Amino acid sequence: MPKKQTVSTLQAMKSQKSITMITAYDALFAKLFEEHCDVLLVGDSLNMSFSGHSDTLSTTLEQMIYHTQAVCNGAKNSFVICDMPFGSYSNKKNALKNSIKVYSETNADAVKIEGGIEKAGVVRYLTQNGIAVVGHVGLMPQFVRSEGGYKIKGKDNISKEKVIADAKAIEAAGAFMIVLEGVKQDVAKEVTEALNVPTIGIGAGADVDGQVLVWSDMLGLFEEFTPKFVKKYLNGASLVREAVQNFDNEVKEKEFPQQKHMY
Ligand code: KIV
Repeated sequence: MPKKQTVSTLQAMKSQKSITMITAYDALFAKLFEEHCDVLLVGDSLNMSFSGHSDTLSTTLEQMIYHTQAVCNGAKNSFVICDMPFGSYSNKKNALKNSIKVYSETNADAVKIEGGIEKAGVVRYLTQNGIAVVGHVGLMPQFVRSEGGYKIKGKDNISKEKVIADAKAIEAAGAFMIVLEGVKQDVAKEVTEALNVPTIGIGAGADVDGQVLVWSDMLGLFEEFTPKFVKKYLNGASLVREAVQNFDNEVKEKEFPQQKHMY
């Protein structure tokens, strides 16, 4: 079993060794993932792939806490990050109250919040109060309704400068690691070189300090849509369908259960 990562071991990996992060929502998969991943992220993407909603905005703090408890139970040796859901960190006061709730009701090691310059004050307040914060800039899924879709960032100079300024502001405010989502690869490279903290990319190219994928995407289980940046490491949906079809056939044909399955 690999040694559990900490804020400082993760930071020491910058430019030395790529950080592997994967989302997890339950104990079963968390246990499977912990052997090979440095960090588990209880992402609010669970609202889509686990709960079937069309975006992440209706995720509640209670749901995030429930799933974070499950992940921490399954992967006791993993560095676990809990995504703060939409609306739970709209100002310093609710951000601290809700982050303390996450820390006191789960074994999460850090929280993740989406936002750039405008969220620097919140990040500073949290870090000053003992909360380890992961930033998330670039394409921020919690802005899907206000921006009218999932928009790749860094395509023009204004957008590029905004991503860089956002990442720098969040780092200066105390974030110990920053997720860069949906960012042109050259911009992600520039951000990564400009920061002292590790960057974790998702749809941000190869020149970052680590990669994160949503587990149900990379295992080929989420079929609603597949973003360009996803690599399917397993044809999970087909395998599950085939297994369940076999079960159905065997039940119908009275081939299951066999004597060895009986008491
Ligand atoms: O919610 C999530 O899974 C995330 C990742 C996409 C980084 O924030």
